[in-house]
Amino acid sequence: MNLTVIGTGYVGLVSGTCFAEMGNRVTCIDVDEKKIKGLKEGIIPIYEPGLEAMVKRNIEGETLHFSTDLGEHLKKCDIAFIAVGTPMGDDGSADLQYVLQVAKEIGQHMQHSLIIVDKSTVPVGTADKVRQAIQNELEKRKLNIEFHVVSNPEFLKEGDAISDFMKPDRVVVGSDDESATKKMRTLYSPFFRSSMDRLITMDVRSAEMTKYVANAMLATKISFMNEVANICELVGADVNKVRIGIGSDSRIGYSFIYPGSGYGGSCFPKDVKALKRTAQEHGYTADLISAVEDVNDRQKMVIAKKVVDRFGADLTGKTFAIWGLAFKPQTDDMREAPAIYIIKDLVERGAKVQAYDPKAMDEAQHFYLKDLPAVSYYHSKYETLQGADAMILLTEWKEFRSPDFEELKQQLNTPIVFDGRNQYNDQMMQDLGFEYFQIGKK
Ligand code: UDX
Repeated sequence: MNLTVIGTGYVGLVSGTCFAEMGNRVTCIDVDEKKIKGLKEGIIPIYEPGLEAMVKRNIEGETLHFSTDLGEHLKKCDIAFIAVGTPMGDDGSADLQYVLQVAKEIGQHMQHSLIIVDKSTVPVGTADKVRQAIQNELEKRKLNIEFHVVSNPEFLKEGDAISDFMKPDRVVVGSDDESATKKMRTLYSPFFRSSMDRLITMDVRSAEMTKYVANAMLATKISFMNEVANICELVGADVNKVRIGIGSDSRIGYSFIYPGSGYGGSCFPKDVKALKRTAQEHGYTADLISAVEDVNDRQKMVIAKKVVDRFGADLTGKTFAIWGLAFKPQTDDMREAPAIYIIKDLVERGAKVQAYDPKAMDEAQHFYLKDLPAVSYYHSKYETLQGADAMILLTEWKEFRSPDFEELKQQLNTPIVFDGRNQYNDQMMQDLGFEYFQIGKK
């Protein structure tokens, strides 16, 4: 099929590249000329394992193209995907200005019958607004062209984006038209080798809702477990044991019940807020969803609080080694990362910070933690330890899982570890002579 993917952010770039990998002819469109120029040369603006090689392979194979010219590419396309950003507006709702601008441009340029797919995470009712925006433009052009707006939310995770897209748990297609559904089924059939069972079709509004509910449900599991961790500490239980105890119940399951320093990233914080806002707009107070957000805000500061309990509120003269800045491993993304809040708090209290992250240091230095002279960056995890009073682990990168503990002890002023992701066995840490603080166990 000939596909146009509008927006070369995380979702657009990964979707476009994976569709190309399956043999479709894909053009990814973006208004950012510099980005498109780079992408044409195989320069990927984000770190995502496997993506660069796949982009280059498909550029060479001429299945993947990049352009700023939407009008030109709409002429030859069967399906147009809207995958532009939906940033959080001031009131917590998703800002639809980019989505609706693209819809308007589609209406201004389309010349034949087309399927338009909302791939961006958009609130319930957006497909209607997209349809209306396109229709308005067609009316201005005095044209009567048939088109269908389909909702096809994307569930990929950063760091696993390629495998999530190529081998999806499910694909949700919300469509009010049978022929459009059929076309979407054909497009996705190569992604399910054994059966088509995992393509779930429904009405447009339910599909739009599904994306928010999936993310809010996962965020709820995390906040629930973080709350349980805090209670465990108070009652003298070990959340790591409780997690295994409950996860073994197949109705509960092991995934997304890891306690830690709270969830971050581009999706959970934004989508939880937007769902709460949508409910509010319809006169409903979503208490549980609000609590999920409140617990997460509080959880981000749990490790900073442990540092204060150990060293006192005034941290002047103290130095802390930070292992991990990204909101999770395998990404350079620092959006809503707990590290931002924790490091700022430590610095405000007078501490110095020596940080290391395998991928996110540029993001930190130039954006999220810029203008903070008390924060310095190092090329290896061991270098950060020199002269530090404690090590604080905030992202569970694999390279932090089994460090040289002897070196860790030697380099630190005092052998103290605050673990915001429960990576180590506390008995082992004690045997090695560390003072070890983790989440959910005193
Ligand atoms: C998420 C969804 O998983 C994905 O389906 C959706 O399309 C986009 O949002 P992503 O933000 O990339 O993906 O990351 P994910 O791996 O889901 O982790 C989100 C956050 O939850 C991270 O900060 C992670 O550290 C945290 N988390 C996850 C926990 O604290 N505990 C867990 O058990 C799992």
